[in-house]
Amino acid sequence: MKRVFSAVRPSGELQLGNYLGAISQWVEMQDGYDCIFSVVDYHAITTEYDPKIFPQKIKDHLLFYLAAGIDPKKCTLFIQSQNPNHTELAWLLSTVTTVSELKRMTQFKDKSKKEKIISAGLFNYPVLMAADILLYQTDVVPVGEDQKQHVEIAADIAKRFNYHFGEVFKIPEVKLVKERARIMSLTNPMKKMSKSGEDKARINLSDPDDIIIKKIKSAVTDSGKKIEYSQDKPAIANLLRIYSACSSESIEQIVAKFKGKGYADFKNSLVEVIIKKIGPIRDKKIVLEKDEELYKKIIFEGLEKAELISRETLEKAKRAAGLL
Ligand code: AMP
Ligand code: TRP
Repeated sequence: MKRVFSAVRPSGELQLGNYLGAISQWVEMQDGYDCIFSVVDYHAITTEYDPKIFPQKIKDHLLFYLAAGIDPKKCTLFIQSQNPNHTELAWLLSTVTTVSELKRMTQFKDKSKKEKIISAGLFNYPVLMAADILLYQTDVVPVGEDQKQHVEIAADIAKRFNYHFGEVFKIPEVKLVKERARIMSLTNPMKKMSKSGEDKARINLSDPDDIIIKKIKSAVTDSGKKIEYSQDKPAIANLLRIYSACSSESIEQIVAKFKGKGYADFKNSLVEVIIKKIGPIRDKKIVLEKDEELYKKIIFEGLEKAELISRETLEKAKRAAGLL
């Protein structure tokens, strides 16, 4: 069975883009692949964060994975910082990664514009991500469009390590889902919907129904009245993509359904499909949260499995590099 590895940083609030671009794909893959999913807390601390609420954020992320349908009996679920093999391999990999390739990373360029302090951790972020992926001899990495470049650099690093030291790592491939791979902000369709920034720009997985209604009602639209999918109407195109991803109807079907109707009708229906899709996830997470033992058990068992698999690769890499 092919191996899948993916992860989300526990920064901010999980939002609809994370669900449609990442977690919902994981749920679909868990029957056909050997899946490993992580909450990558070491990645989250490369940008400003609040250590006081951080443990709760990590927990929330893992519980949302479960609530969204990730089954710990089928997959391995763990918290990145609890498995030291990740940071150890990252050091080894950093010695075959060049400063110039890290400087080319779009996420680094974007984030370093926003942060007060640009840490070496933020710069080395892709190396740690390569370690996450390569430690598990991963075949496929399902992520949103914005992470494609990071998976590609992980593949380059793996090839370079193998070239210098012998065949140690499998070369991973990225898996994107086109239509829903990039969900944009509700207030600015040229920007990605993201966990940080103004709250009304995104639908959080924890948002109650009334907040979802409010956010969609105030989401920006384009000039004109027609519901159509076109490049010069980025706001409606984004809402149509969200509609399609939540309802499983094609964009053409949705456009046909709203022919002759206005934005208000379309938005009312959009609210319904969003609530139908993510309302049950929010409610399930609230139930799971009450069971403290469940969380502890899942991360403990997941860590044991992850540590075992990753230790084998780490030892192989150290031996190849002349360290053992
Ligand atoms: P992040 O929130 O940046 O840690 O991203 C976690 C995962 O969710 C990655 O696989 C991203 O590609 C995906 N993701 C985040 N935001 C979006 C978005 N607006 N649209 C699609 N996928 C997203
Ligand atoms: N960088 C990813 C993001 O921002 C999170 C991540 C860390 C990841 N390690 C990973 C994703 C390994 C896939 C595989 O979303």
